[in-house]
Amino acid sequence: MKIFIDTGSLEEIEEAYSSGIMDGITTNPSLMKKAVEELKKSGQMLDMEDYIKRILKAARGTPVSLEVTSSDYEGMVKEGIVLFKKFNPVAGNVVIKVPCNTSIEGQNRHFDGLKAIKALSSEGIPVNCTLIFTPEQALLAAKAGAKMVSPFAGRIDDFIRLKNSMHFGKSDYFPVQGIEKDGKKLEDNGVTSGIDLVAQCAEIFRYYGINAEVLAASIRNTRQLRDASLAGADIATAPLEVIKAAMRHPKTVEGVKVFSADVVPEYAAMGNGK
Ligand code: G3P
Repeated sequence: MKIFIDTGSLEEIEEAYSSGIMDGITTNPSLMKKAVEELKKSGQMLDMEDYIKRILKAARGTPVSLEVTSSDYEGMVKEGIVLFKKFNPVAGNVVIKVPCNTSIEGQNRHFDGLKAIKALSSEGIPVNCTLIFTPEQALLAAKAGAKMVSPFAGRIDDFIRLKNSMHFGKSDYFPVQGIEKDGKKLEDNGVTSGIDLVAQCAEIFRYYGINAEVLAASIRNTRQLRDASLAGADIATAPLEVIKAAMRHPKTVEGVKVFSADVVPEYAAMGNGK
């Protein structure tokens, strides 16, 4: 499974890529807002275009998703083309992120996302379809030509817990097999957890030999990262803290301490080239 970092922070991107194992970057307007606000707070001047270019270079040739901000078909296509033409020449790694459906109350834009995905894909622009909350949204987005589809695992878990008046913290683990309350399995439209959503998308794609990659997004903790890989996700995108936490275990710390204390000088000398 590929691992992407989910952030707009160049500093976090550089730290993650120093590991040598990163496969890509996802951003969204909220992550960009957070990064821009932090830069401004620290008194740094911001040239947005230059900042995006630095992110693209920091990705070392791996894909970087940049999200459109328009919500109508024409606007999303126009913006997607502008972003791609402006930024893809920098490192050849831009993916345009398009919401699967941009309809809000009273609007009938149910197909604007699909139409935009189709139009951008036909221009040879790779699209990551975002804000996927059902397997059928993923299927339709893939049919429209999306190269990646992003089910939001953590937000489905939030939604299920909120609908059932449960108290939880943002990074609390939600069991992949779901939760029972008052003898009833909690769910949303046949989806019992965010990772169940990822698994259902992966199963449909496998069944039909669909090439689009399932990108498990909104990953909040390391168990969810593991569950995403077990569910057959092609990619998981996670914040830096989750990626770092995935390397932690108290017994690893203890083991390092004990081994360090046990090193005899003769053995240490070998490693020092003496
Ligand atoms: O990858 C999507 C992500 O940025 C949303 O994450 O934790 O805000 O639901 P979250």
